[in-house]
Amino acid sequence: MAEWYAVTRAQLDKQPHEIAAMFDGVARRYDLTNTVLSLGQDRSWRRATRRALRLEPGQRVLDLGAGTGVSTAELARSGAYAVGADLSLGMLREGRRVRPGTPLVAGDALALPFPDATFDAVTISFALRNVVDPAAALREMARVTKPGGRMVVCEFSHPTWAPFRAAYLSYLLRVLPAVANRVASNPEAYGYLAESIRAWPDQAGLAAAISAAGWRDVAWRNLTGGIVALHRATRAA
Ligand SMILES: C[S@@+](CC[C@H](N)C(=O)[O-])C[C@H]1O[C@@H](n2cnc3c(N)ncnc32)[C@H](O)[C@@H]1O
Repeated sequence: MAEWYAVTRAQLDKQPHEIAAMFDGVARRYDLTNTVLSLGQDRSWRRATRRALRLEPGQRVLDLGAGTGVSTAELARSGAYAVGADLSLGMLREGRRVRPGTPLVAGDALALPFPDATFDAVTISFALRNVVDPAAALREMARVTKPGGRMVVCEFSHPTWAPFRAAYLSYLLRVLPAVANRVASNPEAYGYLAESIRAWPDQAGLAAAISAAGWRDVAWRNLTGGIVALHRATRAA
């Protein structure tokens, strides 16, 4: 569990209102910047998340840290009722503007505005890393999930092949900030992005944290060589 507390750099030590303000600042061009920086891969990562959840029409799924609702809209393609929740009003406002049909609510991952066992499935894409207490968020996600329900965490991770990992790190630390300078509405946030990805636990470390938060049958799958990992788990009955 020590991995959760390894994030000690001042830049990463943000309070919830600072996290929300940072995302308010990137909201306007968030979707575009994502697609540019991931070279279009973000769409396939979102598709893989939806498939891993094995949603059925009529089921209820929570997309936590939904931001502009780009991940929520992908989940809705399954026929399930997908609702997004986020801390940043700026991201939610942008989501409402560009995706008026996607249900988005204000909510903190650490105190979700839903009763126990509300959802058949819960998911969080590229947001668990930003929550100030990821272990508490994983417990809160378990609380709002029905016994036997599924969770998928889609998050940046660590490429498994050393030469690829080295090339990726160089992209993160050199190329990404330069591109963000040209595309993003708040480029400093993308310096935070690179640092937070580096400081995040590896695949096995995140799996251990998910188990410790009360989830069972934890397993993961690497996407794009481990740049992203999908962790899936089941809520204990
Ligand atoms: C990188 S965005 C991800 C958005 C979307 N899920 C996607 O796949 O593109 C991370 C989001 O997590 C949200 N977030 C950070 N801490 C949160 C918290 N404690 N509760 C809810 N949302 C939070 C931020 O406001 C931000 O919108």
